[in-house]
Amino acid sequence: MISEKLTKALNEQINAEFYSAYIYLSMAAYFEDENLEGFASWMKLQAQEEMEHGMKFFNYLHERGASVKLLAIEEPPTKWKSPVEVFKAALKHEQYVTGRINDLVAMSEKDKDYATNSFLQWFVNEQVEEEATADQMVHKLEMVAGAPGGLYILDREAGQRQAHSESEGA
Ligand code: FEO
Repeated sequence: MISEKLTKALNEQINAEFYSAYIYLSMAAYFEDENLEGFASWMKLQAQEEMEHGMKFFNYLHERGASVKLLAIEEPPTKWKSPVEVFKAALKHEQYVTGRINDLVAMSEKDKDYATNSFLQWFVNEQVEEEATADQMVHKLEMVAGAPGGLYILDREAGQRQAHSESEGA
């Protein structure tokens, strides 16, 4: 049995993952408005991954016989000053999500809920990748600051991102 407190926190994490999808979709919309189709496509794939993260929590709660409760999703921001500011915001958001995952791990340890602890390890590893990817983008965009040609190349490169298959992790 998952404790009531941990069940509530896992339900809140479903919401946080779907909110992440909302933020990335909003960032995709921003890039589409800026005619940066490659970054827009990158963000849409990111949003898709976040929905998969949310579904992992959804399915896990059911598997353990706990109830899923879907909460209202907050409205995401819609405006950023520049492409690099978008990725800085994405990095900050991922750092926030990492903090949330770490809190869940700590709660599962306190509860001696080893099944939930093991389930959460996938997210601990995923967050390392999520932060690294956003950080890389920030650095690349900082490198080409003031050079439209560089931005054009990075946009094209971002557009080549492929969707993960489940076996590689989502
Ligand atoms: Fe679901 Fe980007 O962490």
